Amino acid sequence: MLKRTHKLNEININTIGKEVIINGWVDRIRNLGGIIFMWIRDRYGVVQVVFDPNEDVYTEAEKISIEYVVGIKGIVRERPAEAKNENLESGEVEILAKEMEVLAESKTPPIYINREEGNEEARLKYRYLDLRHSSLQRNLIFRHKVEQETRKYLDALDFVEVETPYLTKSTPEGARDFLVPSRVKKGMFYALPQSPQIFKQLLMIAGMDRYYQIARCFRDEDLRADRQPEFTQIDLEMSFVEQSDVLETVGGLIKHLYSKILNVEIDEIPVMTYHEAMEKYGSDKPDTRFEMLLHDATEKAGNRDLKFLSPSQDEHLKYFVIPTDEGFSRKVLDEYVERGKKENLKIGWVKRQNGEYSGGVSKILKNSEMEIDIQDGEVAILGVGKYPKINEFLGRLRIEIAKKVDILDENSVKILWVSDFPMFEWNDEEERFQAQHHPFTMPYLEDLERYENGDLSKIRAHAYDLVINGWELGSGSVRIHKRDLQQRIFTLIGLSEKEAKERFGFFLEAFEYGAPPHAGFAIGVDRLVAIMTKAKSLRDVIAFPKTTSGTDLMADAPSKVNAIQLRELGIKVEVDN
Ligand code: AMO
Repeated sequence: MLKRTHKLNEININTIGKEVIINGWVDRIRNLGGIIFMWIRDRYGVVQVVFDPNEDVYTEAEKISIEYVVGIKGIVRERPAEAKNENLESGEVEILAKEMEVLAESKTPPIYINREEGNEEARLKYRYLDLRHSSLQRNLIFRHKVEQETRKYLDALDFVEVETPYLTKSTPEGARDFLVPSRVKKGMFYALPQSPQIFKQLLMIAGMDRYYQIARCFRDEDLRADRQPEFTQIDLEMSFVEQSDVLETVGGLIKHLYSKILNVEIDEIPVMTYHEAMEKYGSDKPDTRFEMLLHDATEKAGNRDLKFLSPSQDEHLKYFVIPTDEGFSRKVLDEYVERGKKENLKIGWVKRQNGEYSGGVSKILKNSEMEIDIQDGEVAILGVGKYPKINEFLGRLRIEIAKKVDILDENSVKILWVSDFPMFEWNDEEERFQAQHHPFTMPYLEDLERYENGDLSKIRAHAYDLVINGWELGSGSVRIHKRDLQQRIFTLIGLSEKEAKERFGFFLEAFEYGAPPHAGFAIGVDRLVAIMTKAKSLRDVIAFPKTTSGTDLMADAPSKVNAIQLRELGIKVEVDN
């Protein structure tokens, strides 16, 4: 075999005059009648090879097609000035081929390699070909660096990497579980972990003090652009710490990664309460790259007659201002009003021109002498409704409009902590409160005392999220480490002692044998890498991702299994598809 002496990024002006052997794939071929040019590609780069008709190797080259795997021996030479290619790292040189060996032939590939075009489905089906694309390879290498640097950083802080089981019992994150049937115990199922939550807390009880794991998690939930059914977390847990210690450690890790890998220095990461985030941004993952903040005009509204915009007892009047009226015709703005109606919210708009309100609800504002903070050439969107619905609606609109008016700076990185999340949230379907993060989260004890028998939604938790550019990148909390407090929380979410024992019995028992105060966090690796590489989708940073319907188009999974396998598992399939 013609075995390489150089990787393709090593072919440059320093190798001029040398005889080299390269290995790689034929990326493109130009046959100019008298002379053949080939681009050869490997993970490290691309180099042009010239086949001269005066060399014996020329006839070999005529038989080659793209994506053949070859070994080529030749002499590196400088390209003539007019043939230099600035877009290619090796563009100042080329190799004059002397000898060539075909290491593997290739059928014509069903997708374009190294080009952004083509059908997404075909690309996923032939993922191993799509991965030849240099941008995808770059992302995977970037991801590798993130994981390596994470290990270095956490290792230096005495964190121990411990693997935890995949075949386990349901964990508390609240999505649907992926189940694995047991052959030995027919009719019984393992659940794949939604996160290593329970195990990492048990490791604290076991005295490991500081744990981390680059852990795979599995959640059977409706997929969106920022979700995959299996994804990866940088998962960690620490003993004898408070919230501030976790923020310092995780914040330090994020700064380390940005600095080491992207050469970007991140300032001190600010902390915003959940309450402030919802009030000002209408989101628990605020995008702080731009302003357009929500204002509360409920007090100002007072007893004024604002017609349909008068907030009733438990409603709020909120608004935000778009810094331009360009692109906001009556038609566009009325569409926002209609959208609000569908969610039972009252939405209005007003413009300001020549010092006067105009359009939309201008009459209502004029007649009631209600002032809002808006300048000439701007548009305000106003909305009335209950919390958190009205904030969430305006928050979503704020993001949509920011994209429309192009005030989102794609190059800026805005990171913050959102803390003090509510301990409980109302589940409309099940008509009960549930833990917003998970039920092992430490509530604010003073809030618990005050509202345990009243409005549970007012109880804050020692729970915090890391947010970058409007994405939830990770989340964590201080944990409950006392059995009796844990039971109080279970009772509040309607989990009886018996049910709690059934679901988490072994875990709860562990707390009876001396659990240290502990807290932790988990960063979504796929999201982090997607943000750091500015990838369009999580799929671009995962080697073998799933489609939005959870399918692996390449391996054709999920798929049927044969009758013998089912019989062994004691399973009968009722659907036929
Ligand atoms: P949580 O459920 O908030 O917390 O998850 C933490 C982070 O994991 C990422 N993530 C996902 N990424 C891709 N696809 C998904 N389907 C998906 N779901 C979650 C997000 C998210 O912020 N055990 C707790 C953490 C703890 O308390 O220590 C947990 O898993 O980036």
